[in-house]
Amino acid sequence: MQTRSEAPAGVEDVIRGAVEDAIRAPSVHNTQPWLFGVRGSRISLRADPDRRLDVADPQGREMLISCGAALYNLRLSLRKRGYEPVVRLLPDADRPNLLADVELERGHEAVTREVEREYAQIERRHSHRGGFRPDPVPSGVVTALLRAAEQEGARVIQAVEAHVLGALAALTDAGEHVQRRIPAYSTEMARWAPSPATARKDGVQEVSYPVRTPRTEPYFAARDFARGQGWGVEPADEDGTASAGIALLLVTAEDTPAAWLRAGQALERLLLCGAEHDLSAAYHTQAMQVPELRDFIRMHFCGDAYPQMLLRIGVPVGEKLSTVRRPVEEVMIEEP
Ligand SMILES: Cc1cc2nc3c(=O)[nH]c(=O)nc-3n(C[C@H](O)[C@H](O)[C@H](O)COP(=O)(O)O)c2cc1C
Repeated sequence: MQTRSEAPAGVEDVIRGAVEDAIRAPSVHNTQPWLFGVRGSRISLRADPDRRLDVADPQGREMLISCGAALYNLRLSLRKRGYEPVVRLLPDADRPNLLADVELERGHEAVTREVEREYAQIERRHSHRGGFRPDPVPSGVVTALLRAAEQEGARVIQAVEAHVLGALAALTDAGEHVQRRIPAYSTEMARWAPSPATARKDGVQEVSYPVRTPRTEPYFAARDFARGQGWGVEPADEDGTASAGIALLLVTAEDTPAAWLRAGQALERLLLCGAEHDLSAAYHTQAMQVPELRDFIRMHFCGDAYPQMLLRIGVPVGEKLSTVRRPVEEVMIEEP
């Protein structure tokens, strides 16, 4: 059995660096629902079920999408550091929270420019909550985003027709209404959207959302992180020209834990590809968290596929908002 002392020299620093990059990934409500067990040159990614949204995400679908996004960063970071990650997804059917085992193998080829460029986006990527510049996203870039998702085993459907865009916006609004009306959703949201006085390093905090969002056409409802308290950052630029950006549905052929992990990796690859072109994403998963609304989106707009995420993408208007992360020590565990 391999022990930590048998790991090749330097591999500990490589793993720590890769985990630091992994945890920059987006996660639902910034729950950061991941743990990384390290043993020799193996990293085991686990879901942390205490951080699952039991009301909004009882199956842990969005938890696994979040962990999949972290897994993508982990893989990319290892490649950038000269290692080839050999990944086994869901290696043990009796341990559903064990999401992936990643074994490091020494890479034999030089790190490519593409890897370098994509890696540089890990710290540039950030979520946006508001409008985008009116300039259209070039079609070549849209194609690159679609391809990025396909390379990770998911697919993206762009909502182009006005009636589809309008319907997705209306369904988002309906999801937001349902979640505001049902007390269990609001209580859960309160746990993950702390007051400005917080010292926590997780959750969606006041520094992460604007006090109001510009009205775009169509308008996709924002999450009510402030819960009527008036919290949020004053938006910098409101000249009335903000666009909703392009709307993308990330879909998978199946609706299983493996598919959710693939969706998460596809999401992050797409987001990093977008960041190379100065694009950011705004996420609207309210309708995805209400089963009847998700079914409706599936039946009417996804063919046979399962919708996993609804994103708006564009060049953000206004300042980059901040976010927080737990320190790496909290999520990295040395395994016996
Ligand atoms: C599965 C998933 C669902 C999300 N849903 C929403 C959402 O509905 N509304 C929203 O504003 N942000 C949403 N986000 C974005 C997270 O809130 C964001 O990633 C987190 O706060 C960390 O911020 P960062 O992405 O800027 O690093 C979602 C992210 C993921 C991965």
